[in-house]
Amino acid sequence: MVKKILLSFVLSLFVVVTCWSQNEIIVNADQGTYQISRDIYGQFAEHLGHGIYGGIWVGENSPIPNTRGIRNDVVAALKKIKVPVIRWPGGCFADTYHWKDGIGPRGQRPKIVNVNWGNVTEDNAFGTHEFLDLCSQLGCDPYIVGNVGSGTIQEMSDWVNYVNFNGSSPMTELRKKNGRDQPWKVRFWGVGNESWGCGGSMSAEYYANVFKRYATFLRNYPGAPLYRIACGPNSGDYHWTEVMMKNAGHMMQGLSLHYYSVIDWNHKGSATHFSEGQYADIMEKTLALKPMIARHMAIMDQYDPSRRVGLIIDEWGGWYAVEPGTNPAFLYQQNTMRDALLASTALNIFNNDCARVRMANIAQMVNVLQAMILTKGSQMIVTPTYDVYQMYTVHHDALMLPTHVTSDQYTYGKYSMPAINASSSRDSTGMMHISISNLDPDHGMTVPVEIRGAGVKTVTGTVLHADSLQAHNTFSRPDAVKPAVFKAFGVRGSKITVKMPPASIVILAIK
Ligand code: AHR
Repeated sequence: MVKKILLSFVLSLFVVVTCWSQNEIIVNADQGTYQISRDIYGQFAEHLGHGIYGGIWVGENSPIPNTRGIRNDVVAALKKIKVPVIRWPGGCFADTYHWKDGIGPRGQRPKIVNVNWGNVTEDNAFGTHEFLDLCSQLGCDPYIVGNVGSGTIQEMSDWVNYVNFNGSSPMTELRKKNGRDQPWKVRFWGVGNESWGCGGSMSAEYYANVFKRYATFLRNYPGAPLYRIACGPNSGDYHWTEVMMKNAGHMMQGLSLHYYSVIDWNHKGSATHFSEGQYADIMEKTLALKPMIARHMAIMDQYDPSRRVGLIIDEWGGWYAVEPGTNPAFLYQQNTMRDALLASTALNIFNNDCARVRMANIAQMVNVLQAMILTKGSQMIVTPTYDVYQMYTVHHDALMLPTHVTSDQYTYGKYSMPAINASSSRDSTGMMHISISNLDPDHGMTVPVEIRGAGVKTVTGTVLHADSLQAHNTFSRPDAVKPAVFKAFGVRGSKITVKMPPASIVILAIK
């Protein structure tokens, strides 16, 4: 008898210890102050590999259905994720690009060498007019990056005049000659790209002066005020942020930040064949964005306490080895559930920091790095990262609701990190949305979510989950990974208990 009692005591102790979970999410539904700018869901399209040519631009005479040379299937897919802004033409390409090469009759445009990306011929078929046509087909804002590294101030100020001025000038006459009467009035302008690296190998002190010269001559034309984005730091280069804010903060509207999740720059590892250790490494590096952004924001707060200057994370994402057999300079990589979790986690961080993070542009939109879309000839597939962008459209321009997460740890070998991350918002119709990621690929998680300061009437859910972290879509199995209806939750009063599958992303819509 005593033996039996002892055994049942030990058993129940085991159950308590193994089932005890810290997971909890508290959403302060009555405390929102800041809006999640839809521009956090921005894209980046560089003249690199098949990012533009083949992926977006096929030309008017292509058998692939197109509108004025731009692929219809790609535009239709991008419309579904409500792309708010596209950064173009680079990247490193921007600091070698002379925009006048890309205007006028296509047959007469010079052919140049794309020195950064494989020394391939760039025939300039896709230039300013074509890019702005793409943006107008998508209904999104353009974000143009000027050439500071090998260009001139005159060249970039001419570009702004050509694109934004409504009056008469040599540039506007040229624009009209090229078939465009009205200015486009482009707001976002980047003053160089990675000026500490491929954009000119400058020091922060030197670039701050260069930026001020450019900013002076990039004019606000009537009805077209500019949002000047200065080149910001590489990852955790806090000195760069400090110098830029101190010396030039008053002349910029935005400061960029570039950060990639990469295992090792010399051994990046396959995008599809990876171990759990490599997965944990990528997630740990993605979560590192949080303290890094916090440190950059603290420096910015010191020089700009009213938070006028936006932090613009205009290159981020996962970077792996290229797909076997593809040109190493084209950065073509597959995209798995790992990337979906990378994206959901980073986007939750950006949402929660939307007081300063005003834009983010994932690298890159089509066929390059962590892409939304992959194409092969006339075929097109969307990736698990695309699915996350589609699920997260509910956060666009919604009011961020402060969300506190307490989480169990996901531990694998030397890696240990919070399994759960989340962000929440309320849209203009009053609907609340919570996006939750479970990074643990080995365990499902029960997550109690408490909504404070608002009632809960109805809850619906969507989930992105697959059999393995390596799951991905291919041209023969385009729907291997796709979002599904989610019902594994219970509601009691203002508490929702969510049963997250391992390695999954859930969005709850709450009325
Ligand atoms: O996104 C690919 C490259 O990465 C960009 O051209 C450059 O800015 C960065 O180093």
